[in-house]
Amino acid sequence: MEKVVIFGASGHAKVTIDILEKSGKYEIIGLLDSNKNIGPDVLGFKIWGGTDVVPELLKKFPGLKFFIAIGDNWRRSKIAQELLKIEPNIQFINAIHPSAILGKNVSLGRGIMIMAGAIINADSVIGDFTIINTKASVGHESTIMEYSSVAPNSTLGGNVTVGRYSAISISATILNGGSVGEHTVIGAGALLTKDADSFSVYYGVPAKFIRPRELGEKYL
Ligand SMILES: CC(C)(COP(=O)(O)OP(=O)(O)OC[C@H]1O[C@@H](n2cnc3c(N)ncnc32)[C@H](O)[C@@H]1OP(=O)(O)O)[C@@H](O)C(=O)NCCC(=O)NCCS
Repeated sequence: MEKVVIFGASGHAKVTIDILEKSGKYEIIGLLDSNKNIGPDVLGFKIWGGTDVVPELLKKFPGLKFFIAIGDNWRRSKIAQELLKIEPNIQFINAIHPSAILGKNVSLGRGIMIMAGAIINADSVIGDFTIINTKASVGHESTIMEYSSVAPNSTLGGNVTVGRYSAISISATILNGGSVGEHTVIGAGALLTKDADSFSVYYGVPAKFIRPRELGEKYL
C-alpha cells in the first residue's frame, strides 16, 4: 500500500480518511495542519505539524504521497503552492469514494476529491485539486477547472464549464451548456439558466447576479 499524509484536520479530512480507507489502496501515516496543535488524534490519526515538517516526513517515508483536505478553494490552492515550493516533485493522490461513478473517458487531474454517490458522465474533464462532493452530478463533456468545487447534491447538465476557483454550492443546478467564470460562487439552491461572470456571486431561481466577489473571499 502507498503511504499518504493528509493536509488538513477538519471535517473534510475526516471524510478523506474514510474515502482512503475504503479505497484500500493507501496507508495513511497521519495528518498535517499548520493551525492545530500536534496531537490529539483525528479519527485515530496523529497530527505531525504544519508544512515545516514536510521535508522531515519525505525523508522518513520515501515516496510519501500527499492529499490536501481543505474545503475552501482558495485556501486549498495556497497550501498546494506552499507544498510545491517545498518539494516541486511532490506527488498528490486522488481520493475517490468507491461508490462514485465515473463515465467513459473521464479525465482526472491530481489532488481531486470525489465523494460518495457522485456521478461524472462520459468525456468530462476534472481539473487538479477540485472537489466533487457527495451525490453531485456532472453531465457529459463538462469541464471542472482546477481548484473549483461542486457541492453536495448539485446538478450540472451536459457541456457545463466551471471556471478555476469557482464554487457551485449545495443543491445548485446549472442547465446544460452553462458556463461559470473564475472565482465565482453560485449560491445554494440556485438554478443557473445563463452564463455566470467571473468574480461574482449569483443565487436564486432563476439565478441572478447578486454582487461582485473578491479574490479569496470566504463562502463556506
Ligand atoms: C451565496 C452565499 C455564499 C452567501 O452569500 P452572501 O451574499 O454573503 O449572503 P448572506 O449570508 O450575507 O445573506 C444575504 C441575504 O441573501 C440570502 N441568501 C443567501 N444565500 C442565498 C441563496 N443561496 N439563495 C437565496 N437567498 C440567499 C440570505 O437569506 C440573506 O437574506 P436577507 O437579507 O433577507 O436576510 C451562501 O448563501 C451560500 O450559498 N453558501 C454556500 C454554502 C454551501 O454550499 N456549502 C457547501 C458545503 S460542502
